Amino acid sequence: MVKRQLPNPQELLQLMQFKAPTLNPTDRRLEKALTIADLRHIAKRRTPRAPFDYTDGSAEGEISLARARQAFQDVEFHPSILRNVPEVDTSTTVLGGTSSMPFGIAPTGFTRMMQTEGEIAGSGAAGAAGIPFTLSTLGTTSIEDVKAANPRGRNWFQLYVLRDRSISYGLVERAAKAGFDTLFFTVDTPVAGARLRDKRAGFSIPPQLTLSTVINAIPRPAWWINFLTTPTLEFASLTSTGGTVGDLIEQAMDPTISFEDLETIRAMWPGKIMVKGVQTLEDAKLLADTGIDGIVLSNHGGRQLDRAPIPFHLLPSVVQELGADMEIHLDTGIMNGADIVASVALGADFALVGRAYLYGLMAGGRRGVDKTISILRSEIERTMKLLEVATVDELNPSHVTQLSRLQPIAKPVADAAEAMTAGKPKTVPANRPARTAKA
Ligand SMILES: Cc1cc2nc3c(=O)[nH]c(=O)nc-3n(C[C@H](O)[C@H](O)[C@H](O)COP(=O)(O)O)c2cc1C
Repeated sequence: MVKRQLPNPQELLQLMQFKAPTLNPTDRRLEKALTIADLRHIAKRRTPRAPFDYTDGSAEGEISLARARQAFQDVEFHPSILRNVPEVDTSTTVLGGTSSMPFGIAPTGFTRMMQTEGEIAGSGAAGAAGIPFTLSTLGTTSIEDVKAANPRGRNWFQLYVLRDRSISYGLVERAAKAGFDTLFFTVDTPVAGARLRDKRAGFSIPPQLTLSTVINAIPRPAWWINFLTTPTLEFASLTSTGGTVGDLIEQAMDPTISFEDLETIRAMWPGKIMVKGVQTLEDAKLLADTGIDGIVLSNHGGRQLDRAPIPFHLLPSVVQELGADMEIHLDTGIMNGADIVASVALGADFALVGRAYLYGLMAGGRRGVDKTISILRSEIERTMKLLEVATVDELNPSHVTQLSRLQPIAKPVADAAEAMTAGKPKTVPANRPARTAKA
């Protein structure tokens, strides 16, 4: 028999202490977001289809991005126990300076189109959180305005080498003059990837009104009010170069860029220099001899070559060969602070987040980016606490296993031949008989 009693008025009063409602609608929206996926959901509701899909989508069948995200989900963590870790320190040293966490904001083009506060929100939020912000060559806020928005924080500049090289050289000089401490030289865009969602959504830069965009706009008035009442979208660091937005995008994709361009830019740039978009161990090795400070293993968030290597899978072999020679950063697919912890454990010095930042921006402008950073921060802290690891430096490969669902069917012949001559045959998947390498 359950024992019953009359309700106690004291207890009832306590139960009825309702939380004061949050009056600000942006804060109210953001309060409900517990994960980056939740921010994506809010972003999708608030942003017209074309800019949302431009951000959310990737190239061709979107396989690269899906695989990169899957690879992070396929992490198995190995926690330690009884290590007495009441607090964790998430700070790290990157490219000669500090960062309060082992990630920064990746460069993204046309950011004010996602939400009108764009790079000002991104750089301001990054500065306030003590992490670096990267401005794209195709950014919609100028080098100087980003510096003004984040005067004491670390600003990095991403360079596309334009067909007209003199434009890029001018940008390099301006970024150095404005005190940006690192240059990211992007190398994975010889031509534009095929973003099929953009074609299907009738997307154009700058956005154009069609019947379907008008219909799509009706439930998203805030975005349109912002768009129509704020300065025109333009590549803000390139306004003096002339040409339409389309001309400039065309300029930024140049299949003739080469190691000579890297050499020229490296000689011009006074700060640290990274190459972004490295996708094979062979290229990483070549770059290690060029005097750069490091590389970003990246497939551009899956927006260029579809079915490109998964950066997180490439990471251990690159770290093993080159980790002592230069910094190894990584991006593509990061949706959770635990993805960053796993990357650092496998030897990455730093990670960059692209869409996670843009989902926050679309969900709530500056406050949305703050929310992205705070979600990632709490996930990093919690994962480190659960692993019982007190500092970023203590993370190591023993904390992570990469569970494998995709395995190469066979090693490339040249690779196998090299292994045979070295007398240590590489593992051949069990379902394939070992082959004798051709002479
Ligand atoms: C909308 C969008 C625009 C981007 N623009 C640039 C760019 O201008 N320059 C660049 O080097 N990378 C650019 N990237 C790639 C990012 O820097 C980064 O490599 C990628 O977003 C990482 O993957 P993630 O979005 O899964 O975090 C862009 C990515 C997105 C999503």
